[in-house]
Amino acid sequence: MEKVRLGIIGIGNMGTNHLKSIQEGKVPELEVTAVADREEGRIAWAKEHMPAETAFFSEGTDLIDAGVCDAVLIAVPHYQHPELTIYALEQGHHVLCEKPAGVYTAQVRKMNEAAEKSDRVFAMMFNQRTNCIYRKMHELVTGGELGEIKRVNWIVTDWYRTQSYYDSGSWRATWDGEGGGVLLNQCPHNMDLLQWICGMPVKVRAFCHNGKWHDIEVEDDVTAYMEYPNGATGVFVTSTADAPGTNRFEITMEMGKLVCENDRLMLHRLAENERTFCKTAKGGFDTPECTVTEVETDGINEQHAGVLKAFAGRILKGTPLVADGVEGINGLTLSNAMHLSSWLDREIEVPFDENLFLEELNKRRASSRKKEGTGVVFDTEGSY
Ligand SMILES: NC(=O)c1ccc[n+]([C@@H]2O[C@H](COP(=O)([O-])OP(=O)(O)OC[C@H]3O[C@@H](n4cnc5c(N)ncnc54)[C@H](O)[C@@H]3O)[C@@H](O)[C@H]2O)c1
Repeated sequence: MEKVRLGIIGIGNMGTNHLKSIQEGKVPELEVTAVADREEGRIAWAKEHMPAETAFFSEGTDLIDAGVCDAVLIAVPHYQHPELTIYALEQGHHVLCEKPAGVYTAQVRKMNEAAEKSDRVFAMMFNQRTNCIYRKMHELVTGGELGEIKRVNWIVTDWYRTQSYYDSGSWRATWDGEGGGVLLNQCPHNMDLLQWICGMPVKVRAFCHNGKWHDIEVEDDVTAYMEYPNGATGVFVTSTADAPGTNRFEITMEMGKLVCENDRLMLHRLAENERTFCKTAKGGFDTPECTVTEVETDGINEQHAGVLKAFAGRILKGTPLVADGVEGINGLTLSNAMHLSSWLDREIEVPFDENLFLEELNKRRASSRKKEGTGVVFDTEGSY
């Protein structure tokens, strides 16, 4: 097989963006042979912009049944990610699934079970893992040279969105259509990076404010506290209404501190382990010697095209993925724990009762707002 024949399911904002990057030749190992979308307008658009031999479908499952692709890219609203992934794997397709892995972990667990039974490639679109700065943070923290984590702080409020964005799709920012707000739409990237770099917390306490800044029923402002197995603590803050927003990710460790902000990674490295220094220093106000340097990276930040290339590479040559599909459950576990904590107004231990989460989600779905989308498709360039 020289090229992987890819079917894109959902040619809305993100599906269109993926199609464009393949058409621009950024991923020569992929050829889009089929597209599916429920909206006639999107199929009409695709027909105008794609070769005549492309196969078009109005439903993702029909595209899968047609057997005209080796792999599918699932870019539809989140609730359907697990069901379409399971169906595609069962029909012998490789799957690249958009983030988040799903809306609740019970459905994602079933998806992971299907992936484990299948011999097909299953990958998750965690494009931010391709960012050289986050890759470097992952390497430095998991490599252990800076010692144990003591504190994690991530304020990521640069996900600014207008009311027009929320009004564009009927599914957006509703419990029944999307299953959450900023935690489920914008933050799956941050949730994944947080667990990829720092591991999973064992306790979460969160405060989610629904429709605080926009006319929506789901959260657009969140502050969460986390505790890790070694006693380290963390705070995660996000919003879609801070202008200008901030994106500062800080990890304090025994041997120093990493600070990622404004596309730079600074390392504040201590001359000795703070735990030893604290116990042995003679002066009451002594502080460990510290040098500050900007960390060099390889400068490579391929984003979505990088994930697509790695997906094709795994299928064609068995080379590594950017993110294995089964890892998607970790970030979702984090955001589900934050939602559940806020809904029940108490601390949540991780792992939590997945059925309780689903019951609580379903209560909100039962009275979820029904709305018409304006149907506007935005250029998503630079928004992830
Ligand atoms: N990785 C990223 O950076 C990134 C960025 C934006 C969106 N996303 C993800 O992509 C997904 C889609 O988001 P979007 O903004 O493109 O939404 P969108 O509403 O613009 O597009 C989704 C499209 O899917 C179609 N669709 C829905 N169900 C279908 C089905 N069963 N079969 C065929 N077509 C179907 C809809 O008609 C719609 O055109 C979401 O899960 C979102 O989280 C990822």
